[in-house]
Amino acid sequence: MLLHLSTWPEIEAFLARSTAIVVPIGSNEQHGPTGLLGTDWLCPEIIAHEAQKNADILVGPTFNIGMAQHHLDFPGTIALRPSTFMAAIGDWTRSLVHHGFTKILFLNGHGGNVATIEAAFSELYAHDSYAGRRSGYACRLKNWWDLKGVMRLAQQQFPTGHGSHATPSEIAVTQWAYPDHIKAANYAPQIAPTGPIREAGDFRARYPDGRMGSDPGLATPEKGGELVKLAAAGLIDALTEFAGEARV
Ligand code: NI
Repeated sequence: MLLHLSTWPEIEAFLARSTAIVVPIGSNEQHGPTGLLGTDWLCPEIIAHEAQKNADILVGPTFNIGMAQHHLDFPGTIALRPSTFMAAIGDWTRSLVHHGFTKILFLNGHGGNVATIEAAFSELYAHDSYAGRRSGYACRLKNWWDLKGVMRLAQQQFPTGHGSHATPSEIAVTQWAYPDHIKAANYAPQIAPTGPIREAGDFRARYPDGRMGSDPGLATPEKGGELVKLAAAGLIDALTEFAGEARV
């Protein structure tokens, strides 16, 4: 069930069955010469939308702008500062909690978001801690590549050239979902360099075409489909476990 294609009476009825929700979260940022700018929000969205076809779960609208300041020297990147990102996650969560959701699972598609999403959770909980009351809800962060079996499959599919940015696994997932938008380029070098992440100018100087350690030419829609199928099943498992977690 997709929240944005539902009505409020349908959400009210869903809340009588379950108070858990998945929110895909990512980033809109350059992904090398052939990766779509939306890759990091498309991947969790694709996986969550696939999962809700096979289970009675609710998927919220995708939070599609994240921590991407280091990609700003590449056109099309849109970035939030950490403080803005945390404030938005806070209001997004408080809105859902206001309706009665008690388990909010953020399915993340961007490694650079992790620290700030966790900080946003701490900020939310701190509000109740200082007030001396129980929160009554819980947030969880799950990276799509950490869903059961997904990383192992990606390592089997791409034993070399996976890298850490514009990876063949994430690009394969978008190729499966959007086969009319598959791009091609001659990569030079075939496997991109690796190194630190700092400000935007430093990033573009170190990684001129935007990739880090990866060979996106290894991606295929078929491999993407295998990853989506496994990740969608893993998401249902992860949400079921989280939803069933007892309050202490
Ligand atoms: Ni990415």
